Amino acid sequence: MGRFYVTTPIYYVNDAPHVGSAYCTVNADALARWHRLAGDEVKFLTGTDEHGQKIADTAASHGVTPQAWVDQIAPRFLEAWRDLNISNDDFIRTTEPRHFRTVQAFLTTIYENGFIYKDVYEGLYCVSCEDYYTLEASDEGKCPIHGRPLTEMQEENWFFRLSAFQDRLLAFYEEHPNFVTPETRRNEALSFIKGGLKDISITRTSISWGIPVPWDERHVFYVWYDALINYLTAIGYGREDDEVEKWWPNSHHLVGKEIIRFHCVWWPAMCLAAGLEPVSHVQVTGWLLVGGKKLGKTMDADAPVKLTDIVPSTLSAEFGVDPLRYYLLRETILGNDGEFSIESITARYNTDLANNLGNLVARVVAVVTAKCAGLGPAPSGSSTLRASAERALGEARLAWERFAPSLALEATWELIGATNAYLEEHAPWKMDAGDAVSSVLGDALEAIRLVAILITPAMPSVAEEIWRRIGLVGSPAEGPFDEVARWGRYPGGQHVVKADPLFPRIVEVP
Ligand code: MSP
Repeated sequence: MGRFYVTTPIYYVNDAPHVGSAYCTVNADALARWHRLAGDEVKFLTGTDEHGQKIADTAASHGVTPQAWVDQIAPRFLEAWRDLNISNDDFIRTTEPRHFRTVQAFLTTIYENGFIYKDVYEGLYCVSCEDYYTLEASDEGKCPIHGRPLTEMQEENWFFRLSAFQDRLLAFYEEHPNFVTPETRRNEALSFIKGGLKDISITRTSISWGIPVPWDERHVFYVWYDALINYLTAIGYGREDDEVEKWWPNSHHLVGKEIIRFHCVWWPAMCLAAGLEPVSHVQVTGWLLVGGKKLGKTMDADAPVKLTDIVPSTLSAEFGVDPLRYYLLRETILGNDGEFSIESITARYNTDLANNLGNLVARVVAVVTAKCAGLGPAPSGSSTLRASAERALGEARLAWERFAPSLALEATWELIGATNAYLEEHAPWKMDAGDAVSSVLGDALEAIRLVAILITPAMPSVAEEIWRRIGLVGSPAEGPFDEVARWGRYPGGQHVVKADPLFPRIVEVP
């Protein structure tokens, strides 16, 4: 069995989480759950990015200290993730002492290795991005992402010698063709590198809200420079609880497409500068859009839905936690942008969940109750459904391994479709009780058992409930997948449970 260390970006605590933040977290959660199901040892990290100008400004505008502000917002992320059934093993806050220790240890190593020097920096700064722009890269003096005027800054700073890593990064990319996926994003990262790398300013004296530079305490580290290191803090880099060797060789970062440069250029260079192999893999994720624009705090007032109407808690109250998770995982291929809308989540709910999955379970349970005295029969060995199930198991497995939850779910829904078609074809509800009906229902129950296993990463609670309804004990998440996800394991003789619809239909808004 392998190991799997997966991380989300750490979220800025300038505001509570929105469905865009939930998107990345739910994807990471499903991947973590898949790997646990497969029998891997998993570590899943998420957390909050609490330093920098943006947080200091937000706190000031609320009339509180940055520490008071972050202490107030960080728990809202914990709550949101708990409500979405996120199974993270650790939650890191960059204001924790363990992070200070790792950042200082890591950067002191880079300093001692000769890749950090002092100089004066001048440039245009966007506080929302916490990033500098050149005039050419700006939108006539405004931030190309946030549309806000950029501020001119001049500071004496410590610099990281990124320029020294161009060739090493190119060689690293060459040797690790799957370092960044999808390939379009890999090419984007490569073109940043080929375009020439300038040294980057990594400290600030203009603010004090940050981690002090150990060799020059008038400076604090620039927020991005501190934030990236969180991935090492959580595995104990530079501390007595060091587990870097254990986790780092199987490490995977999920990161939004706007932060490619930080994760796919700076971060591997920083690791190389510290004498550490870079992270194993960066999976870039696209954006959820509303009306074609990035869903988030800076959304237009005339967007088709208001951000406050689509916060994760409102959506899960309306649709259920698992259906929301399903929608976020299924609707968009990880890596692409996807348009979020109430219509599309409602359509997914009614079609995939209520009509296809919910009805399948309900009708099989109903017919087993009517024709087999409520005792689920065992499957036959040679059902035509078996081939469909085996295809779905293979395809879903491969898709989960390749960071493609939507394709894994698509393969799962093909099995659901095939099972519904099998039932239509044989119409067990019209058959007399006896061996023939038992064998059809046994096959359907076995397909449902496999579906319950396959949906565990996406819909863990629904999977458990289906397991219970078909009379099984234990949990569909127990795994290991290769052992339990084999045709013919439904034992037969189980008491099925008739209950309310799993997904009551939602009336579409006209
Ligand atoms: N704090 C930095 C990350 C530091 S990681 C060392 C940051 N924070 S963020 O809160 O602005 O964004 C965190 C993640 O949320 C990013 O990957 C970003 O792409 C993602 N999302 C924010 N809005 C999003 C959508 N509308 N859709 C999908 N993901 C989005 O950047």
